[in-house]
Amino acid sequence: MNDTAADRLDSHEIPVWLLGELRSDQAGETGAVAIYEGILWVSRDTKIRRFAEDHLRTEQSHLTKINSVLPAKSRSRLLPLWRAAGFVTGALPSLFGARAIYATIAAVETFVDEHYLQQIERLDREQLLPTVRELLADCREDEIHHKQEAEQAMGAGPQLVLRTWCRIVDFGSRIAVAIERR
Ligand SMILES: [Fe+2]
Ligand SMILES: [Fe+2]
Repeated sequence: MNDTAADRLDSHEIPVWLLGELRSDQAGETGAVAIYEGILWVSRDTKIRRFAEDHLRTEQSHLTKINSVLPAKSRSRLLPLWRAAGFVTGALPSLFGARAIYATIAAVETFVDEHYLQQIERLDREQLLPTVRELLADCREDEIHHKQEAEQAMGAGPQLVLRTWCRIVDFGSRIAVAIERR
C-alpha cells in the first residue's frame, strides 16, 4: 500500500484513540460512497439521482481527505464489508421510493454528524492536531447539509416501518464504528 500525505504527519503524533476514530471515519466514508452507488444502481427518479450524484461526489472527497491523514498501517482491513453494507443500505430503501431514501440518508447523517462532533470536541479538549480538526470539521459541515437536505425532501417524519429501518441503520453504524475503533 502506498504511503500518503498521512505519513507526513508522523504517526507518533497521532494518538492511538484518534487512529481508531480515523479508521472508523474511513469505514464510514467508504460506506457512504457505496450507499449512493446503491441508490444510483436502483433508482430511475431524476430528482433522486441528482441528489445521489451530488452527495456521492462529496462523500468521495471526504474519503480522500480521511485517507490523507490516516497512516497506511492504520487503515481498515474491512473495507469490502463496509462497501457491501453501504451498497445494501442504499439499494434496499430505493426499492420503496423517495421517502425511504431520504429517511435513510437523514438517519445516516444524523449519526455521522455526532460521530464527527465527538472527535472534534476531544481534539479541542486535548488541544491536538488542528489540521486534522479542521478537516473533520469540514466533513461534518457537509454531513449536516446532507442531513438537512434529506429531512427537507422527506417532509413529514417517517412512519413506523421506516422508523424501524432507520433504527437498524443507526444500530449498524454503531457496530461498524465499534469494530473499527479497536
Ligand atoms: Fe461523508
Ligand atoms: Fe454525507
